[in-house]
Formats: sequence, structure tokens, C-alpha cells
Amino acid sequence: MIAIENFSQPTAAANDNYIAMTLISTSPSGHVPVMLSEVLDYMNIRDGGIYVDATFGHGGYARAMLEMADCMVYAVDRDPLAERRAMQITAEFEGRLRFIRGNFGDLESLLHSVGVDHVDGICFDLGVASSQLDDSERGFSFRHDGPLNMRMDGGRPNAADVVNAMDAEQLADIISHFGDEKFASRVARAIVEARKESPINTTARLAEIIRRVVPRSRDGIDPATRTFQALRIYVNDEMGELERGLIQGERLLSPGGRLVLVSYHSLEDRMVKEFMKTRSGKTPNASRHMPEVTPLHKPSFSLVTRKSIAPSSEEVSSNPRASSAKLRAAERSAAPVWPNFAPNKRTVLNS
Ligand SMILES: C[S@@+](CC[C@H](N)C(=O)[O-])C[C@H]1O[C@@H](n2cnc3c(N)ncnc32)[C@H](O)[C@@H]1O
Repeated sequence: MIAIENFSQPTAAANDNYIAMTLISTSPSGHVPVMLSEVLDYMNIRDGGIYVDATFGHGGYARAMLEMADCMVYAVDRDPLAERRAMQITAEFEGRLRFIRGNFGDLESLLHSVGVDHVDGICFDLGVASSQLDDSERGFSFRHDGPLNMRMDGGRPNAADVVNAMDAEQLADIISHFGDEKFASRVARAIVEARKESPINTTARLAEIIRRVVPRSRDGIDPATRTFQALRIYVNDEMGELERGLIQGERLLSPGGRLVLVSYHSLEDRMVKEFMKTRSGKTPNASRHMPEVTPLHKPSFSLVTRKSIAPSSEEVSSNPRASSAKLRAAERSAAPVWPNFAPNKRTVLNS
């Protein structure tokens, strides 16, 4: 059962990341870390510091942090293949890298499980790695046929469970809200019709069903792009994870510690922006005719980036995956954690 509340639509640009990732996913060169030098800069990496790479992936950020200073890095990823890659890097850095497999939505308990209560910086590089898109067995891409999975941790319910079980209205909600697909109802009806013949279990079959009902746009983007993005965000509960990850970052950071996020679509960036602005006391007054309201809580962060930072044009031309990246950073104050985070525009997923 899903409930989608007060959801605002992502802009058309929201799909850029998926498109760019899909393009680069055809490259054999593997994952190229996005905005690496900016992330290192904003994390303020120092000797003796304790840092968290909440989305280890191929370890691009973690490795660079370890090379930059004599620091300790705790790395998290939900993907079992990331764990394997981490084992190789761990050996190189003689005890300075510790990998913990799990969801960054559980960051606090994951770190507590290895005896860590406070850290000096946490970075998140959201979304999927290009290697996840590349691997047809993971079922993320409509360009390669494979089992319709899309779960970063390989678990269930996966994308096939969703498309074979949900009713047309629920499917249309997901496809519209997470994919900004204007033909969402058509796609949902086509899925429900097609699965009467036989369950939809492969990426190629789903892509073909979508392509039959969504016209090809002039920019040449595959009609399946938006629906695939929507399913991926949904099955991995990416927005719920982000919300929990932000809250836990606030709990874990020591005063002066940095929170740095790289996001790739407007839903993610909006949540990050709202969290950082609210927590830094930048919530606008409800009305300019009303007297200023003293915030209920002391700011637990100060903004390091007033606006989002974009990658350089050189980076975008050498790595299309970077094209929609936005970086935001904030610094933890000594104020107590806030009781909760209620984004104005949020998606609540009850699976
Ligand atoms: C864009 S890649 C990170 C790449 C990394 N910065 C690098 O340089 O190699 C995102 C990674 O985050 C992981 N991930 C996404 N959501 C996650 C979550 N909620 N919890 C833990 N890992 C997550 C994915 O499995 C993927 O490996």
C-alpha cells in the first residue's frame, strides 16, 4: 500500500541524472566520482578526523579522503558488491577504512554498532553507481535486458513485485510522482493489461510495454526513462532513506562537523535544501505582515553553501553523469538536535 502526500512534481530536469547515467553506463570505464575535489574541500578533511562516506559505491570519495589526510573513514553502502570492493581498499589503508553494509537511513545504529558516536564529516553521493546501471543482472536499465529487480541490495519487494502486484492507480501515482511522466496513467494501464498475459519479469519486456504507449520525444530520450527512474526510486525508498539519513547526520556530527550531499534530481535536492535551510534557522516568515517569529529551536547547522554548487563545465563534458549534480554543504553547530524533520513536500511510503 502506498500513500503519497503533498507531493510536488519534479521538474523536467529531474530526469537528467537518469538519462546522463544511462548514457555513461554504456562506457566500460566504470564509475567516475562526481565533484570529488569539491566534496573533499567542503568536508574539511583533517589529520585525526573521523569521516563517513555514506554511499561508498566504488570508494572514489573514501579513497581520496584516506589519501588526503591521516584520518579514519567509515564507509556505508547497501550494495553487497560495494562491500566486496571495499575489502580490497581496506587492505591498502591499514585499518583506516571500515566498511559497514547497510542503509544510510540507519546510519546512527550502523555506526553505534562499531562503537562510533560522533564524527567530523559525512558525505552522501546519492543515487546509483554507473556499475549498477551497467550490470544487466541488477535490472536497472532498459538498455540491457535482465531480471526486473532494481533493488540496490538485491532484496524484495523488487520492481517486478511492484509492477505485477499494484493496481493501476497506485502504479500511476509512483510513475507520475517519482518519474514526472505525463503519460503515467497510460503506462500504468498498459502494465496492468500486459501482465494479464503473463507476469512482467524482465527489463526488456517492461521497456517494450512502455514504448508502445509513450510517444518518443524530440530530444530522443527513450520513452521508458521516466518510468524506470520512478520504479527505482520507489523500490529503494530513496526519498525515505534520504530523510532518515539527514536526521541521523544531525545526531552524529560533532560541532564543526560537515554534512555534504551531492544530489541528482530535484526531489532529492529540494529535500536537502529544505533540511539545511530549516536547521540553520533560515525558514522564512509565514507573512511579511507578521512580526518576526523567534525559531523554536537553536540552529543545529549553519549553511556552508548558500546556493547549490554545480560541477565545472570541464567535469560535465568529461563525465555526463555529473551534468545534473548539485552539491550542498552545512556545518553542525553545538545546538541540540531538533526533535524531527517534517519536509513540507514529502512522500510517505508505506510498503
Ligand atoms: C553514486 S554511487 C556513489 C559513488 C561513490 N561516491 C564513488 O565515488 O564511488 C551511490 C552508492 O550509494 C549506494 N546507496 C544508495 N542509496 C543508499 C542507501 N540508502 N544506503 C546505503 N547505500 C546507498 C548505492 O548502492 C551506490 O553504491
